[in-house]
Amino acid sequence: MSKRTEDLFQRVYEAKTSQEQAAAYAEWADSYDQAMAESGYVSPPQLAALLAEHCTPGSSAVLDVGCGTGLSGIALKDAGFAEIDGADISDAMLAEAAKKNLYRKLTVVDLMKGIPEPDDTYEGAFSTGTFTLGHVGPEAIPEVIRVLKPGGVFCLTVSDQSWIDQGYEEKLPALGDGLFEVAVNEMHDHVVSHNMQAHFLALKKLG
Ligand SMILES: C[S@@+](CC[C@H](N)C(=O)[O-])C[C@H]1O[C@@H](n2cnc3c(N)ncnc32)[C@H](O)[C@@H]1O
Repeated sequence: MSKRTEDLFQRVYEAKTSQEQAAAYAEWADSYDQAMAESGYVSPPQLAALLAEHCTPGSSAVLDVGCGTGLSGIALKDAGFAEIDGADISDAMLAEAAKKNLYRKLTVVDLMKGIPEPDDTYEGAFSTGTFTLGHVGPEAIPEVIRVLKPGGVFCLTVSDQSWIDQGYEEKLPALGDGLFEVAVNEMHDHVVSHNMQAHFLALKKLG
C-alpha cells in the first residue's frame, strides 16, 4: 500500500470532527476504490449476504448508511437488492458513487445529526466501514433504526477496535431497549492487510 494511502487511512481514523473527516475523504475519493481493493477490504459482500438473509432483496428498499464511493452499493446490487438509497457526509465520495449508477437517491447526511427521511421508510439498512474510529459511534444507531419499518433489519460492521474503544458491549443494550434486538453478532475479517476484524451485527427493529 502506498505511503499516501497509509496517510489517508490514518487521517480518517484519527479525525476529531466531521469536518476533518469530510476533508480527508475529499482528498481520497478518486483513489479510494483502488486503495480498498489493494487493502483486502472483504466486508461488503459478506455483510450484503447477511442482509439478504434477513430481508428479501427483490422487494426491499434499503438505505446504505455511509455509502462512500458505492463499493457497498455494488455488494448490495450483487446480493439482489435493486432499490438502494445512499447517504454519506462527503459530497466528494457521493460524486464517485453517482458515477456507478447504482443508487435510486444519494443524500449528503451527517449521521450524528440525523437522517432526512420519515420514520418507517426502509425494509433494510446497511453500513460497512462507517461505524468505526474517527467516523460514527454507536449513538447514531437509533436514528438508523428510526427510518426502518417495524421488523426491518440494520446490518453493520463495527471494527474490533471501535467495539472496545467506543463501548459497544455496554452501550448496545441501553440503545436497543424497546427499539431493537441484536439478532446476529459475529466476528469476521474486515481489512485483511491491517489485520482488522469487525463485528457483523444484524439489529432487528421491534414493533
Ligand atoms: C471507510 S468509508 C466506507 C464507505 C463504504 N460504505 C464502503 O464500504 O466502501 C466510511 C464512509 O463514512 C462516511 N462518514 C464518516 N462520518 C460520517 C458521518 N458523520 N455521517 C455520514 N457519513 C459519514 C465517510 O464520508 C466515508 O464515505
